[in-house]
Amino acid sequence: MTTRHRLGPLEEIPIGEGRAYAVGDLMIAVFRLRDGGVRAVSAVCPHAGGPLADGLVDRRVVVCPLHQHTFDLGTGCSATGQPPLTVYPVVVDHDGRIVLEV
Ligand code: FES
Repeated sequence: MTTRHRLGPLEEIPIGEGRAYAVGDLMIAVFRLRDGGVRAVSAVCPHAGGPLADGLVDRRVVVCPLHQHTFDLGTGCSATGQPPLTVYPVVVDHDGRIVLEV
């Protein structure tokens, strides 16, 4: 069963960057893409625990800042042989707040 969580305003995240949120006992990285899209994935890199919210993003992937492994933001799959990230449904509500389903 999924639960909806209202996080902070999308405007808290600079365009083209990510931010980590604690949701229950999970850490989830939310990215505000340059094309206006929003993506949410597990925030801890499966390679060695790097902070994915601090990684570089483009429209499709995030690159972990520690050892540069790359993950697809839509599927969570790694392009560089690592275990996948968990992808979470995320929308922005009419108040401009991030709403996540976990
Ligand atoms: S911890 Fe992310 S690539 Fe190593």
